[in-house]
Amino acid sequence: MANETQKTYWNEIAGPKWLGLGGAMEARLAPVSDAVIAAAALQPGEHVLDVGCGAGFTSLDAAQKVGPSGHVLGVDISHPMLEAARELAAREHAGHLEFAFGDAQTDYFTPPANVFISRFGVMFFENPVAAFANLRRSAAPGARLAFAAWAPLADNVHWAKPLAIVQAQLGPGTERAHRAAGPLAFDDPDYVLAILQESGWSHGEVTVQNLFLRGVSLDEEARIACTMGPSGALLDEKHASLTQRETAYNTIRAALPNYAQIVPGGVRLAATIHLITATAP
Ligand SMILES: C[S@@+](CC[C@H](N)C(=O)[O-])C[C@H]1O[C@@H](n2cnc3c(N)ncnc32)[C@H](O)[C@@H]1O
Repeated sequence: MANETQKTYWNEIAGPKWLGLGGAMEARLAPVSDAVIAAAALQPGEHVLDVGCGAGFTSLDAAQKVGPSGHVLGVDISHPMLEAARELAAREHAGHLEFAFGDAQTDYFTPPANVFISRFGVMFFENPVAAFANLRRSAAPGARLAFAAWAPLADNVHWAKPLAIVQAQLGPGTERAHRAAGPLAFDDPDYVLAILQESGWSHGEVTVQNLFLRGVSLDEEARIACTMGPSGALLDEKHASLTQRETAYNTIRAALPNYAQIVPGGVRLAATIHLITATAP
C-alpha cells in the first residue's frame, strides 16, 4: 500500500496538530490559496479536484469560483482533516463541494476533473511520478493543473529562523534523504519539471512567487513554529520536554519582530512558493 507512513503521520500526528491550531494555519495560508486559484483560472461549471485538500479551505474557494453548475471534490488521506472539511462545506451550504478519502498516488476519482488544484498537498508522495501519472487517469481531456509547493527553506525565513533556533537549542535533527516526502520535497524547480514530464503532463512550468503569509499575532506565530513546519517537527523528533518547548517558544517569540511585520489586523511574513502548472495532453 502506498504512502502508509504519510497516512499514519497525517491521521495521528500532523492532522490533529494542524486542526488543534484552530484555523490559524488556514488564515496564514490564505494568500497561497489566492495564488493557486488565480493560476488555475477556474471557470463556472468546471469540475475541480483538490489534491490533499486538508480541512477544505482551498476547495471552498474553488467551489465559489466554479459555482453551483460546477463541482469540487477534495481528496485526502487524513480522516480528521476530511471531517473538518465536511463540517466546513455543511456550514457554507456548498452542495457542489464534496470530500472523499483517497490516496492521490493510486486512487481513481470521478467525475473527470477539468482542473487539479493543491495548496501544499502534493509533496508527500512516496513516488511523485506515479502520483502525477495516476492523477492523469482522472483528468478530462485538456485538464489543467495548478499546485503550490514550498520554495527552498532559505527563501522562507518564517520556517528557517525558528528551525535555526531549535537546532541551536537541541542540536540538529536526523539528516533526511534527499527529496524525501515532506514539505520541502518540491523545492527544486528542475526536479518538479522532470516529474511533470515523466508523468506525461504537457506545458509544465514552475513559477517562483513571493508573497506574504497572514499571521494572527506574534504569539500565535511562535505557537505555530513550535507545532508545525521544520521547527515543530524537530521539537517532536527530540521529544522536547515542556520546559524545552517553553524555551523554544520564548526564543522564537523574541526573534519574530526581526522577520514578521505588524500590520493592521495581524502580522505578515515574507514567503516564497513554487506555483506548478501543466496541462493534460
Ligand atoms: C500541508 S497539508 C495541506 C492541506 C490543505 N491543502 C491546506 O492547504 O490547508 C497536506 C495535506 O496533504 C494530504 N496528503 C498527503 N499525502 C497525500 C496523498 N497521497 N493523497 C492525498 N492526500 C495526501 C495530507 O493528509 C494533508 O492533509
